[in-house]
Amino acid sequence: MSCRIQIAADDETLSMFESIEAPTPDTIIALMSLVQADDRPDKVDLTVGVYKNGQGLTPIMDCVRQAEQQVHDQQTSKAYLGLAGDMEFCRLVAQLVVGDSLVEGRIAMAQAPGGSGALRVLSELIVRDNPESTLWLSEPTWPNHNPLMGSTGLQRSDYGYFEADSQSVNFETVCECVEQMAVNDVMVLHGCCHNPTGSDLTYEQWCTLGDMLAERGVVPLVDLAYAGLGDGFDEDIRGTRAIIERVPVTLLAVSCSKNFGIYRERTGCAMVLTSSNEIAGRLQGHMGTIARTLYSMPPDHGAAVVRTILSDERLSTLWRQELSEMAERIGALRSGIASKLNEFSGSERWSFIAAQKGMFSLLGLSDAQLTQLRVDHGVYMVKGGRVNLAGLQPSNIEKVAQALVAVT
Ligand code: LMR
Repeated sequence: MSCRIQIAADDETLSMFESIEAPTPDTIIALMSLVQADDRPDKVDLTVGVYKNGQGLTPIMDCVRQAEQQVHDQQTSKAYLGLAGDMEFCRLVAQLVVGDSLVEGRIAMAQAPGGSGALRVLSELIVRDNPESTLWLSEPTWPNHNPLMGSTGLQRSDYGYFEADSQSVNFETVCECVEQMAVNDVMVLHGCCHNPTGSDLTYEQWCTLGDMLAERGVVPLVDLAYAGLGDGFDEDIRGTRAIIERVPVTLLAVSCSKNFGIYRERTGCAMVLTSSNEIAGRLQGHMGTIARTLYSMPPDHGAAVVRTILSDERLSTLWRQELSEMAERIGALRSGIASKLNEFSGSERWSFIAAQKGMFSLLGLSDAQLTQLRVDHGVYMVKGGRVNLAGLQPSNIEKVAQALVAVT
């Protein structure tokens, strides 16, 4: 029997989507289109966190090109790999980040669409087992942390982290906030190159924090998106390792977007380090079923490329070399702009930029100052004055420094 009853829409009824309101745009992504629309040839884009080389381009790394060629030549099928994606990729990334001793043991892992996908899978996992947990985010944090992880329904709270006056981490405040966290609350930590402030914990602070979290039963979730772009890969993951060594359960969202320069390939890995292989096995199943409900299975290409690099000694060495060149360039741009700013302002107040790590610093600018920078000088930064220093060129450092001194 077929159903042929038709219900006439009454005049008052709006059809689907007629009343939908425009969404609040993401502060970073909205700026991308403003930059694109600006046709001034000397505009300076310091917005979205992508690395740029001396020609102002986001290059494809040589190691990636070579690995892509191998993938192209050797891949024999595009059939599905499974809910957790490329497990050899996950194992190699885990080996890199966590170290050999844990990889075969108490760890559950799933390849995910970027670090963002990994964050979401982990948040869903928390909701499944502990819907009462509060997710604690640093103040400030990446603007997408809250919507991305909060749309799982998890409660959120902030922990004080950054002191704008001193342009450094206020560790005392961090510790005071940890004292307020409950058992099984989740503290989201930036593994290195804090986004948006560029201010990281010292190694000693990571160790102290790890001990505190272990004692209070608070679960760390380390967002590791920029490893290798600060002080070098091994140094940049020391804090994460200090946490893992001290805390029985750690969640990790690892992104390969920035350190392999494969942003659009959406390559990340969600990991959970637990207290036993048996729990890890159960979590592995849950991560798969979570992926199934979100995107079914992750895209393959980026993971295949990273797997190819990490499983080949020559390509791995090339990757580390290219990565440290990128970090050195960012370091030089940091020193360059800090010294020009100090020179033009006749002060030492900008020295912090040279001391901070990774792509970002947070300059503490008002909306009016940012508009002035954009309109009068063609210099684009994210809300609050988050600046992607990797977007600078030696040729425009002076222009940006002059513009900044003029508006501040
Ligand atoms: C950023 O913070 O600019 C990057 O992580 C890109 C993004 O997705 O926001």
